[in-house]
Amino acid sequence: MDLSPNTQLTGLAIPVEGMHTREERLNPFPWFEKMRKTSPVTYDEHRSSWDLFRYDDIVAILKDPVTFSSVRPTAGPVLLGSIIGMDPPKHHQMRNIVSKAFTPKAISELEPRIAEVVHELVNPLKTKQQMDLIHDISYPLPVIVIAELLGVPPEDRQLFKDWSDVIVKMPEDSTENEVQSFFRERQKTRQELDDYFMKVVTERRKNPREDLISRLVHAEVDGQHLTDHEIMEFCILLLAAGNETTTNLISNAIRKFIEEPHLQEQLRQQPELMEKAIEEILRYYSPVLATNRVVTKDTEIGGKQIKKGDQVIAWIASANRDENKFPVADQFKVDRTPNQHLAFGNGAHFCLGAPLARLEARVALPIILSSFHNMEFPEGTELTPIPSTFVYGVKALPVQYNP
Ligand code: HEM
Repeated sequence: MDLSPNTQLTGLAIPVEGMHTREERLNPFPWFEKMRKTSPVTYDEHRSSWDLFRYDDIVAILKDPVTFSSVRPTAGPVLLGSIIGMDPPKHHQMRNIVSKAFTPKAISELEPRIAEVVHELVNPLKTKQQMDLIHDISYPLPVIVIAELLGVPPEDRQLFKDWSDVIVKMPEDSTENEVQSFFRERQKTRQELDDYFMKVVTERRKNPREDLISRLVHAEVDGQHLTDHEIMEFCILLLAAGNETTTNLISNAIRKFIEEPHLQEQLRQQPELMEKAIEEILRYYSPVLATNRVVTKDTEIGGKQIKKGDQVIAWIASANRDENKFPVADQFKVDRTPNQHLAFGNGAHFCLGAPLARLEARVALPIILSSFHNMEFPEGTELTPIPSTFVYGVKALPVQYNP
């Protein structure tokens, strides 16, 4: 069973020095700080990979896709066949084509519909006094939005949700049995998703509509089109890369607004601060903790010799707390400016879905704040971190409130 560091990208729980216990996973930031100060470029024998913790080193590798390749050994069925696992020139070509369909304008047109969906999710909760914000709002929202964006018909919504559940699921523990059944389930889901999207792509080729898949079918750069297989891979990547991350952005924001309750009233009174607040959440509680690269030629980072073939893990959540880049980095400053965080990566693979994630948060958070007052954790709440060294968030977010 492959439990090598490459499974990092599937979100599997792998042993990482500073992230063993529940408390450490919930708050890995002291470990990041220690590493930035004592061993910012360090080789982990156990995972056979380099860990990078400093902002400047991480920007340098993300900006150099020739030396630091995104073509990683297969890591589970979900992510790497698609654009996120490609290098130039293929990556550039693919990115140009999908960007034609996935434009900021196409995304911004979704705003009214996103608001409608948020209201649909929020309204039934107004007569209650407690919810699980993740189960009730921040999990379903991105799944519904992506389903609609892709043009998945309403009757297939449940099917689609079940697949999304499996794609973002983690094994409950690292026993051989659990991990094996996890991989089997994922493989099966992947096959079902392949079949489903293949059918939709074929159909949209014949009868185009106003949806992303139809736009992908017709997107063209210099006479180049995407193949059906490439479109299908891209659709599945959107599910894997876009849903859980956006869920965590919204729930990490509410977690912070509960930890520092004055933020709730401040953002109600000064809604113009919301965009900056979202950037600060992305920096402070980055939904993606790390990404990785494979080194293509012998090189040096921070005085350390790195060999061709080595793996490098870039801890972007650590870069986002680097005191050399962000003054008082461990403080949440709602209007922090400038705020060049790396939550969406940097360079060629900069998150394609950033405008969508930001839009969903910008629409959802004000509606949540205006619908639920005095949000707090019910007494005795102990947050449980997602068992992953790749994504950062909690499994459930119980919230008590006055409507
Ligand atoms: C790439 C983070 C939401 C689609 C990335 C990368 C990061 C990231 C760090 C770069 C990975 C690397 O360099 O190896 C996030 C965060 C999100 C989010 C924090 C939410 C807060 C989304 C959404 C979508 C999406 C909503 C689409 C619906 C993608 C795609 C790529 C990507 C397609 C690959 C781009 C490329 O390789 O050129 N994301 N993402 N992401 N993301 Fe996101």
